[in-house]
Amino acid sequence: MKLVAKRLDVVEPSPTLAITAKANQLKASGLDVVGFGAGEPDFDTPNHIKEAAKQAMDQGKTKYTPVSGTVNLRDAIIQKFKNDNGLVYERNQIIVGTGGKQVLYNFFMATLNPGDEVIIPAPYWVSYADIVRLAEGIPVIVPTDIASGFKITAEQLEKAITPKTKVFIFNSPSNPTGAAYTRKDVEKLVSVLEPKDIITLSDDIYEKIIYDGLEFVNPAMISGKMKEKTFVVNGVSKAYSMTGWRIGYAAGNAEIIKNMDTMQGQSTSNASSISQAAAEAALLGDQKPVEEMRLAFDKRRKLIVSLLNEIPGVECRMPEGAFYAFPYITGVYDFDGFKKLVLEKKEKSLSKLFCDVLLDKYNVAAVPGVAFGDDKAIRLSYALGEKDIEKGISRIKQMISDLKG
Ligand SMILES: Cc1ncc(COP(=O)(O)O)c(C=O)c1O
Repeated sequence: MKLVAKRLDVVEPSPTLAITAKANQLKASGLDVVGFGAGEPDFDTPNHIKEAAKQAMDQGKTKYTPVSGTVNLRDAIIQKFKNDNGLVYERNQIIVGTGGKQVLYNFFMATLNPGDEVIIPAPYWVSYADIVRLAEGIPVIVPTDIASGFKITAEQLEKAITPKTKVFIFNSPSNPTGAAYTRKDVEKLVSVLEPKDIITLSDDIYEKIIYDGLEFVNPAMISGKMKEKTFVVNGVSKAYSMTGWRIGYAAGNAEIIKNMDTMQGQSTSNASSISQAAAEAALLGDQKPVEEMRLAFDKRRKLIVSLLNEIPGVECRMPEGAFYAFPYITGVYDFDGFKKLVLEKKEKSLSKLFCDVLLDKYNVAAVPGVAFGDDKAIRLSYALGEKDIEKGISRIKQMISDLKG
């Protein structure tokens, strides 16, 4: 008897979670591991948010809530969209789930039919393609590169659209590249999307982590017509350092929301009532901690990019947002020491080979670019202190120098 369902044949375990787990295991065994792997801020959740959770417990807010989220949290989300994005939604256009990931999963399960195509610009967040495949859709990957600032052009988008295209995924600032689209960039994409019968899924999870005064813009913010066709996903994980609380949310078409509610009602029901109270405090409360974290990330961003660009064979673009550096290491692939490794290890993915050696021999965790659809790069999360960044990058430098011979 085959124990495992066929539907699992199309998905892979999340490589970022796997690398983080391996790095933690090495750390637990006593090794001094520098972790550039995790996709989460290293700061503690701000105090007033934790206090709101304690209060919720004391007040007995420990029961089931409506599947889509408490009225209070949904109203706080409506307020957030109005204040930050100038977008007006009704309560029946909002859903709260157990993390942005679950919201995305439910969105695709509720909208895709077998064979529907989903356009995903690469490099992309690891879970998009797997979730689309689980929902029996077909990921259509459109590559971008360092020369285009890791941004898809209107021409590329137009070319990728077929009669089967159902969804276009827009993620700015992006995981893994940190690239963020300007208003002009978004307008160009909207000129392609607006006349078409396509849903734009805007994943705004890194909205608050954007640098150099760049304005955050998503496609729904460009026109009323585009707002109708856009489904916005966001959450508190990254902005408020609340990854463990598991609260994500979405806003958009009421019929899609209703069907996502049905999906969620038959799987997990509501997100944790206590986390929902905390998320409400995050969205409505003092936003100063968000700015403090953003400023700390900005300093680290400049540090890590300048250190990376000092290493021979490495080229790193300055990201406009999020907390990831995505350096190309193609220069290193040409070094004799690396070529020897390739022959020895018989690993097809060069970025995976690089990251395996980096973790095993130099005790630095990074995620291979191949996991994001680009084998030329690795992803380094700079959600760690400056001393650790310096230590980790100097080990990478050492590895590359050893490979260069
Ligand atoms: C681009 C992107 N979207 C969504 C998520 C989901 O985050 P969460 O489920 O913690 O809300 C992540 C997390 O890594 C992400 O990087």
